[in-house]
Amino acid sequence: MLTVDQLQNLNGKVVLVRVDFNVPLKNGEIRDDNRVVQALPTIKELLGKGAKVVLFSHLGKVKHKEAPEVVEEQKKKNNLAPVAKRLGELLGQEVLFSEATRGEGLKACVASLKAGQALLVQNTRYEKGEEKNDPELAADWAALGDAYVMDAFGSAHRAHASTYGIPELLKGQGKPVAVGYLVQKEVENLNRCVKVSESDRPYIAILAGLKVSTKIKVIDSLLKKCDQIIIGGAMANTFYKALGYPTGDSLVEDEFVEYAGKCLEQAKGRILLPVDAVIANAFENPTEVKVASTKNTPDGFQGLDIGPETRKLFADAISKAKMVFWNGPMGVFEQDAYQAGTIAVCEAIKGLKGKAFTVCGGGDSAAAAKQFGYFNDFSHVSTGGGASLEMIENDGHLPGIDVLG
Ligand code: 3PG
Repeated sequence: MLTVDQLQNLNGKVVLVRVDFNVPLKNGEIRDDNRVVQALPTIKELLGKGAKVVLFSHLGKVKHKEAPEVVEEQKKKNNLAPVAKRLGELLGQEVLFSEATRGEGLKACVASLKAGQALLVQNTRYEKGEEKNDPELAADWAALGDAYVMDAFGSAHRAHASTYGIPELLKGQGKPVAVGYLVQKEVENLNRCVKVSESDRPYIAILAGLKVSTKIKVIDSLLKKCDQIIIGGAMANTFYKALGYPTGDSLVEDEFVEYAGKCLEQAKGRILLPVDAVIANAFENPTEVKVASTKNTPDGFQGLDIGPETRKLFADAISKAKMVFWNGPMGVFEQDAYQAGTIAVCEAIKGLKGKAFTVCGGGDSAAAAKQFGYFNDFSHVSTGGGASLEMIENDGHLPGIDVLG
């Protein structure tokens, strides 16, 4: 697979670059520009080689099956223009922006580019064909470029027109397609959690989140690779039920209780569950918040974070690890009363600095690590939530990267 530094003779050539600028926006303001910052090395490399850099990214969701006025509203909300401005500030040079997402309008914008200039194309999901990998759309985009670089790790699990269709076509035409620096770094780090070497053991995965149903494939995969899996968050409730514990009003996925039971059996003691929890009598504005054993959540109460005993139990287990993969906050960390569990996990991982290889699997976990000031305490924080999980599930394979090989 070609890497971006191996691309030669780019002066005046159009390089199509898929980045993941799906950043959190509030009233048109970027709340976290990490994904833009992480894409800079590749963009700078290409600009430095005199390329005309055409950047494609999606932002949020645009559901084309909805009524036209709803689609228009979603487009307005997910307008990429503020990102072009921010990228220009970070690069120290103007970044052009194309409102046109295909056809003559886009072609004209690309034609106006000079060597060493960058252009960001409006949200790829404004196009109905993007998520369907529509061949006509992919052909329209591919026709603009002399080469393609994939640097959108966060979108590499999507086989869409901009992540799959373009490189497939260009490769077929014998044009160079390559991975960017961000994707290279992500693949190197996450592959270490997929193809585990003995020196990285004990390998502990920490999995949490709302639902077991969305994590089945990753649990199956990690059970084969890890020495221990710590389970927290609301998904632990389904495991308590499998053990026969009363779960009160906690969120439980009844149809996955049997699956959870099988996992516990198969794990032979390698799954570590919370022993106590912070429980409340309502999600919003509770009148009672207390700590209780997970063996008996009373009716009318729901678990919203791990409890103090569990924080110690998990920290102790984590302290023995040589490698950690963490995905999912322990509780409702957006609310002050339920942050302690997630902070305790971050603190335990921080304690491994210099002693173990630690990975934060993006998404909510990365947001929590940032919010609580632990972002720089990990060996690697992924820019892709879904993508990093799928990479673990699929033994290192992602369509947006495999297509380049
Ligand atoms: C992400 O934020 O996880 C990526 O940008 C992918 O976004 P998607 O789930 O909307 O495809």
